[in-house]
Formats: sequence, C-alpha cells, structure tokens
Amino acid sequence: MDTTAPFFWGSATASYQCEGAWQEGGKAESMWDRYLHENDLENGDVASDHYHRYREDIETMAKGGQNAYRFSLSWPRIIKNREGEVNEEGIAFYNSLIDTCHEFGVEPFVTIYHWDLPQYWEDEGGWLNEETAHAFEHYARVCFDRFGDRVRYWATFNEPKWFVMSGYLIGNYPPALQDPEKCAHAAFNVMYASALGVKAFRAGGYEGSIGIVHSFGPVDGVDDTLETKIAMRFADNYANNWILDTAATGELPIDLLTDLNRRFDLSYITPDKLQALREGTVDFLGLNYYSRVLVRPYTDGETQLVVNNSGSAFKGSQRVVIKGWFEQVLDDPNMQTTEWGTEIYPDGLRRGLIEVTRRYHLPIYITENGIGVAEDVSQGEVQDDYRIAFMKDHIAAIKAAQEAGADVGGYFVWSTFDLYSWKNGCRKRYGLVAVDFENGYTRTPKKSYRWYRDFIAGEQTGKPYQEEGQR
Ligand code: BG6
Repeated sequence: MDTTAPFFWGSATASYQCEGAWQEGGKAESMWDRYLHENDLENGDVASDHYHRYREDIETMAKGGQNAYRFSLSWPRIIKNREGEVNEEGIAFYNSLIDTCHEFGVEPFVTIYHWDLPQYWEDEGGWLNEETAHAFEHYARVCFDRFGDRVRYWATFNEPKWFVMSGYLIGNYPPALQDPEKCAHAAFNVMYASALGVKAFRAGGYEGSIGIVHSFGPVDGVDDTLETKIAMRFADNYANNWILDTAATGELPIDLLTDLNRRFDLSYITPDKLQALREGTVDFLGLNYYSRVLVRPYTDGETQLVVNNSGSAFKGSQRVVIKGWFEQVLDDPNMQTTEWGTEIYPDGLRRGLIEVTRRYHLPIYITENGIGVAEDVSQGEVQDDYRIAFMKDHIAAIKAAQEAGADVGGYFVWSTFDLYSWKNGCRKRYGLVAVDFENGYTRTPKKSYRWYRDFIAGEQTGKPYQEEGQR
C-alpha cells in the first residue's frame, strides 16, 4: 500500500447506474441498454443524469469532506466498435470528470468494467467468447494510456461473481441465461480478461496500483459438524475463492476445478491462460460488503437461485441452493434484514477482513458498503438514521479488523447519490444525496451525508466525531 496516501473516505457509483445520456457523446449501445429496452423494463437512459451534473456531484462530495470517488468507465462510451476505434468524445467526458475530481481534491478510483458490456460484443457471444477478453485488454490499455497520468487506483472488474451468476445462472441480468456450464465458462473468461488487464498495466509501466473489486460474502456455517464444514467450503468457492484466489494468487481453487471438470468440458482452460492468470495477480483487493453468507449442508432438490428485486421482503423470499454443494440460510427469523431481504451483519465484515488478510496479505479497500431503502425524497432532508447506524456499525467493524492487522486503506459508501439500482430500479435508494427522479433530478443531501461529513472531519483532525448529547 502507498504509505503516503491518506485513508480514503469516499463513496461510489457506476457508469450505467448514474450517467444516463445513453445515446449522447457518440456512445455505443450497451448490453443493458438492449436488454432493458427489449424487455420494456425500467432503465438507466437518464439514471441520475450524472453525465450532465458530474461537476455539481463532485463538488458536493468534496463539501462533504470526501477525498475519493470510486466510479466506473463505460466501455461503449470509450470504444466505438469491435475494431477497437476510440470515441474521442467519451475520452473527453472522462478527462473532464477526472480533472474535476482533482480540482476538488478528490482522488479518482477507477473501475474499468462495471457490467455495461458493449452490445457489439454481446452479439458475438459476450463473456462466452474469449475474444471479448482480448477486447477488454485493448479497452483497458486505452484507459491506462489516456487517463493513467491522473489515475493512481484502478480496478479491472466490479464483482465478477454478481454479474456472471446473475447473467448466466440466475438469469435476472443480461444475457439472461440459466446454464451452469456456460456460467463456469463466462466466469473463467472474465478472470482471464482481468489478468490480461493487469498484465497490460504492468507491461505499460503505468504509475499506481491495480486491483479487482469483489462482492465479498464471508461464509459462516450453522454449526460445527463435518457436513457443515464441507458445505462452507463449497459456498466459499462459489461466493469468494474463484475470484479472490485467482486474482490474488493466480491459482483457481483446485477442488472447485476438480468438481467442475467432472461435469463440464473445461478444455478452454489451456496452459497459456493458466500462465496468464499467474502473471496477472493484483496489487490490492477491493471488497464490496453488503452481507455474509450463512450456510447449512445441502440435503436435496435442484439448484435454485431466487433473488428479491421488489423489496418489502418477507423472510424466505430469497433462496440460494446449489445442488450437491450447500444451501444458504436466508429464512432465519432472528436475522435482521433490509426491506430487500439482505441480512444486516457488520461482524461478518470484521471477521471476513481478518480472514482475507490471513489468506492473501494484500492491501484492501472497502469499495462499497451501504443500505438500499425505499425513501420519500419529496419532504425535504431524508432522515436516514438507519443508514447512519449501518455505516457506523460497519466502520467500527473495519476499525476492529485494522486493530487485528488488516491493511485497509479506504472506505466507500454505496452510493454517492441515489441511482438506478439494476433490476430494483430507482426505488431502491442507496445514496448519501437524494435524487428526485420525478422532479428535474434535483439533489438534496440526506442526514447521512451530514453525519459522514462530520465523522470524516473528526477522523482527519484526530478528534473523533461525537454525536450530539455525547459531547
Ligand atoms: C453491488 C454492485 O452488487 O451492489 C452495484 O456493485 C449494486 O452495482 C449494489 O447497485 C447494490 O445492489 P442492488 O442490486 O441493490 O442494486
């Protein structure tokens, strides 16, 4: 880790979820544009209109004491076609966004791919086609060349697990497949692409560091039996190891490979690609933490993955069973959950950070953490005390892990402002700043924004922030 860097207190967004301007500035169509339009679903055509309002948004971050902004670049905004031609208007947009960050003293943390694959690559098979991995390498190199003089922190991919599982196994994200064999293939191609991106970064001699961002789900078991231990290992391979082991050590988990090899044709995993994985290990891990994964042993039944995209969860409205491997416990009546059925469990972050440190010895950034809630933003400042409590508890967990030796260099709230939350639409709000999607996309900071600002000021002056009443 760069020991001269301050601790980064920031927040995060992603291109498709906030930029809008889906047809402006020479941008090509993304797979999400096509999928949502074709299925007549709520889309990010305008999203938070960040494309036109990024200056106001970055200024608001800076006024809120935040010293880092994690955002992603849109591949279809930067590369016009399969031939790899660069769209100069897209480059100009991101140049201006990056320059604005620096103008306001905000460090840009750049994710190269946050799910918006150009449709021209999806038409060729998307992540099932190895050529997409090579196209990613070209795109990443363009980003390093054009922005590398002002960007010091890069991440190749955001959450391979989430977009690969949702796109190829659950089927609720494009390309909407439910095919375990294709899922394994896409997963491998994505990790291969990530390694090619890291290798290109190193070969180019760019300054700074490069990592990968993972949707981190530390695994717990319901008890201490051998059956549960085995289920936990399967769950860990499914939820974490195929990304973290591969990106951090260059090796795919061998027991996972052995199991997959019994069922599927893995002949695409060739020695040269395994070598690329070894040569493309990351400098740091970005961990997005929303919840842990609590598992019980698998008993029977088919693979079943049910997600709640509608909110107002009742216990058991989500279900994750992987045939022969494990069952995720989501129906425990004692669990504290969000409206969307995600368990709120800060201690998972503390223990998870300690475990990741023990396994990989790499610097870590918490690249996302937040709570999605349906909120009324029409009545002035949103009084989101639940979000403040959520942040406080998770920051306390990070501090406890740091005391136990975890090397954590930053914390990014998801999200900087309200944005389009994929299949949950704009109703599921995560922002520190409210966006009134119905009334001109006006921005109004929430109570949590003020709390975060005062908390950061306390951290930076060495006088920890105290709540009113505790002073
Ligand atoms: C992470 C993603 O999975 O969690 C974000 O990186 C996403 O893009 C966030 O929006 C929250 O998930 P959701 O499904 O509630 O939007």
